[in-house]
Amino acid sequence: MHVLGICGSPRPGGNAQLLLDAALAPLREAGWRATEFLLSEKTVLPCTGCERCIPGGVCALHDDMAQLYEAYAACDAVIIAAPVYWRTVPAQLKAVMDRTFAVQRRRPLRGKLGGALCVGRGTGGGQAITLNTIYTFYLSCGMLCVPGELNGVTAVADAPGDIANQPDRLEQAACLGRNILAYAR
Ligand SMILES: Cc1cc2nc3c(=O)[nH]c(=O)nc-3n(C[C@H](O)[C@H](O)[C@H](O)COP(=O)(O)O)c2cc1C
Repeated sequence: MHVLGICGSPRPGGNAQLLLDAALAPLREAGWRATEFLLSEKTVLPCTGCERCIPGGVCALHDDMAQLYEAYAACDAVIIAAPVYWRTVPAQLKAVMDRTFAVQRRRPLRGKLGGALCVGRGTGGGQAITLNTIYTFYLSCGMLCVPGELNGVTAVADAPGDIANQPDRLEQAACLGRNILAYAR
């Protein structure tokens, strides 16, 4: 089994990445292969709306999104971790969502499991909107949304790595990973 983890933060080693690692840990321990796609290390250009992808399902842009198109087809589950930017997902992650349009007719994610985590500096800083943006993407792809302990995982942290001092939040992230295992079974 194979899980694709996408970190939507442009900041390397940030809070979203730590939450993603915590969520992936139980899956790795259970023997799943985990592919991490960190937007801090990748270039995914914004969709230009040229719609040249419509007849053949091939995007006219050439960048790291090609790796995700392959991973979509190969994975059994996706976990997206995102920082809150202006109460929603960062532009880098929205570009991934928009560029997924190119392969949408093939429905490569249909019936697959999706988990979501997000972190913002504010309490009620837009975490719910960010989670809903990710869940709406999953549902539009025909995926099944998997909850954490209650809903998606939301966290409050600001400086890079601050979330490492919140073991309860990391445990919530691990709970999401365990739920993906359970739902996959
Ligand atoms: C451009 C920008 C916009 C932000 N907007 C919000 C926001 O609307 N609400 C919030 O709670 N935090 C906001 N933040 C703070 C980040 O969500 C927060 O620092 C988070 O921990 C960053 O995660 P990372 O370490 O994974 O990059 C913003 C940060 C940046 C750089």
